[in-house]
Amino acid sequence: MTHKDIEKVLVTREEIAAAVKKLGQEITADYGDKEIVVIGILRGAAVFMTDIIREIDLYMDIDFMSVSSYGDGTESTGQVKIIKDLDTNVRGKHILIVEDIIDTGRTLKHLVELFEYRQAASIKIATLLDKPERRIMKDIMPNYVGIEIPNEFVVGYGLDFQQKYRNLPYIGVLKPEIYQ
Ligand code: IMP
Ligand code: MG
Repeated sequence: MTHKDIEKVLVTREEIAAAVKKLGQEITADYGDKEIVVIGILRGAAVFMTDIIREIDLYMDIDFMSVSSYGDGTESTGQVKIIKDLDTNVRGKHILIVEDIIDTGRTLKHLVELFEYRQAASIKIATLLDKPERRIMKDIMPNYVGIEIPNEFVVGYGLDFQQKYRNLPYIGVLKPEIYQ
């Protein structure tokens, strides 16, 4: 059943599962016998993170970081603030950043620079969703993209609007009256 605030479902639960599985297989093949540190970006990527790590067959550590680049609206503020840092020292480690969505690319630009500064051995990005039309940081190119979506504000499967809707099992677009 679709939530009453949702205008349309953009990516179904089944399509998400298929995309996650495919990404997991690609990641497993690409890293070969390397050990990785998978870093989930809270809170949006929490749902994707727990699913994707179970599709990756490698030795891994997992860790989480919480950053905020958005206020309560649907537009990026351009400011990235670290709310919770890693517990892991990433120096010399192969890092896979797991994000829910790349929009302007500001959040990832900031994180990639931070992990470079901390001397990670390599840094790759896996994102469930990508909105390439919206990119401002043109040099931010995810290594693994689940699904490209058009320029629409979406919720579900971890993604929120004002902290709600993260628990929806699909990706959907809200009815305009909800965010206007
Ligand atoms: P960026 O820094 O502009 O690339 O924004 C990335 C972050 O903004 C993501 O991690 C999300 O938390 C949030 N975001 C971007 N687009 C959406 C959306 O359509 N729905 C919900 N959150 C979004
Ligand atoms: Mg996020």
